[in-house]
Amino acid sequence: MSLVVREMAESEVDLVIDYFHASTPEHLELIGVDPARLPRREDWRAYYAFVFQQPLERRETLLLTWLDDERPVGFSSADKISFGQHAHMHLHVTTSDDRRRGLGVEAVRRSVGLYFEQLRLKRLFCEPHAFNAAPNRTLRSAGFRYLKTHVTVPGPLNFRQPVTRWVITRPQKLDS
Ligand SMILES: CC(C)(COP(=O)(O)OP(=O)(O)OC[C@H]1O[C@@H](n2cnc3c(N)ncnc32)[C@H](O)[C@@H]1OP(=O)(O)O)[C@@H](O)C(=O)NCCC(=O)NCCS
Repeated sequence: MSLVVREMAESEVDLVIDYFHASTPEHLELIGVDPARLPRREDWRAYYAFVFQQPLERRETLLLTWLDDERPVGFSSADKISFGQHAHMHLHVTTSDDRRRGLGVEAVRRSVGLYFEQLRLKRLFCEPHAFNAAPNRTLRSAGFRYLKTHVTVPGPLNFRQPVTRWVITRPQKLDS
């Protein structure tokens, strides 16, 4: 495994868009996404074109690409960003062949570091579907702390669902 985690280029956003549009109904159900709420590909690209123009201090979402041996294998995004304070992150290894190989934990660790640095965060949250074991185990192994389980609509693509809220706080050594 030769993992690289870096900011996503605008030319790579189809990694995200194709992942969701190519996912089976069962996979979307597992991750709590309502297929009817997926934006059309061209609308989604236009949204990202708008987002990539925003300065980091006012970014609505920040995307990271996960590469293994230079091959894109997954991505993370941060949203609900309050610059200098907190944000929520998401995690996806895009194909099942690449899951359960240890990529997720290491990619999440590195993504957390990038979000803390780029967005000057104090705290980072993640709220996966409560019944989706993989992200819940991954977050724990990557150093997140469990806070609570509650029912909510976590984001614009999601249906109402039970989610587990996890948090990780900025290490003191990163404080300036
Ligand atoms: C969540 C995800 C990014 C984790 O990446 P990964 O490369 O599969 O994770 P790892 O191989 O590093 O494994 C991390 C932990 O999750 C566990 N895990 C992974 N897949 C699992 C599964 N299907 N069922 C149960 N546990 C699973 C591993 O056993 C490991 O547990 P441990 O750390 O307690 O030993 C990946 O599985 C994925 O993209 N899943 C589909 C999308 C998804 O559910 N995203 C979350 C939306 S909120």
